[in-house]
Amino acid sequence: MNLQGAVTVVTGGARGIGRALAERFAAEGARAVVVADLDREGAERVAAGLGCPSPLGAGLDVTDPAAVARLVDRVEDELGPVDLWCSNAGVALGHDLGDDGDWERSFAVHVLAHVHVARALAPRMAARGRGHLLLTASAAGLLASMDSAPYSVTKHGTVALAEWLAIRWGDAGVGVSCLCPQGVRTAMTEGLGAGSSVLAAGPLLEPEAVAGAVVRGLAEGRFLILPHPEVAEFERRRAADRDRWLAGMRRARARLGG
Ligand SMILES: NC(=O)c1ccc[n+]([C@@H]2O[C@H](COP(=O)([O-])OP(=O)(O)OC[C@H]3O[C@@H](n4cnc5c(N)ncnc54)[C@H](O)[C@@H]3O)[C@@H](O)[C@H]2O)c1
Repeated sequence: MNLQGAVTVVTGGARGIGRALAERFAAEGARAVVVADLDREGAERVAAGLGCPSPLGAGLDVTDPAAVARLVDRVEDELGPVDLWCSNAGVALGHDLGDDGDWERSFAVHVLAHVHVARALAPRMAARGRGHLLLTASAAGLLASMDSAPYSVTKHGTVALAEWLAIRWGDAGVGVSCLCPQGVRTAMTEGLGAGSSVLAAGPLLEPEAVAGAVVRGLAEGRFLILPHPEVAEFERRRAADRDRWLAGMRRARARLGG
């Protein structure tokens, strides 16, 4: 996909990875960059600093299907057909098994929110024969997050949904990519303690490096975008021998004092 002149939307764009994506899309020549976030003021602040021809900051709760449909309508009416929608908003909830609220919120943000976007946008993109959906999952969605079951399991849901969408809509001209970083230096990882498996997995990447990997992955038409390339090898090992992989994960957990 070509970002030059594109109409792009980034949810969770008020900070972190979403903000870096919005800034990079503007720098790559996107015509419109819509920054959508629960934090409306933050989204407007990021949009105001973008310097692309048509920046827009908008308040959005990605778990509200009517609000998602309204934003799709608004963007397409005011700015033109969406070329790229990055469904990036995420939450880090639930230590260990978490509580029911952690599961419900994580499922709503990491799975259902992407369903709302696909319902509103994929048929339109298919009718036009072009458009791209990018879902931000996590390496935890390919492997495991030892810190939080709700995060790990719902991010697996993100990956599975992205695959489903790619199978369902790929031949109709709708591109789908799934972004799976390991640790990234954002507010989400700010308070992590020494026992966190995210920090044990390796050095944190800067959000700008993740945005760079996204631009390269989109240009290459990749489904899976891995800013930490070692994740591909970890995934291969997991698939090749699940028992061995689980034993290794248990050893890693014991080393962390879990
Ligand atoms: N930081 C990491 O190490 C890391 C690693 C892998 C994947 N991710 C994923 O990357 C994405 C971005 O994370 P980040 O690190 O930039 O986190 P962040 O906490 O810095 O930013 C997340 C943004 O999402 C917004 N948001 C949360 N719930 C929302 C909702 N219901 N509607 C609209 N906006 C909402 C927040 O207001 C915030 O601005 C998330 O999906 C996260 O799970 C992060």
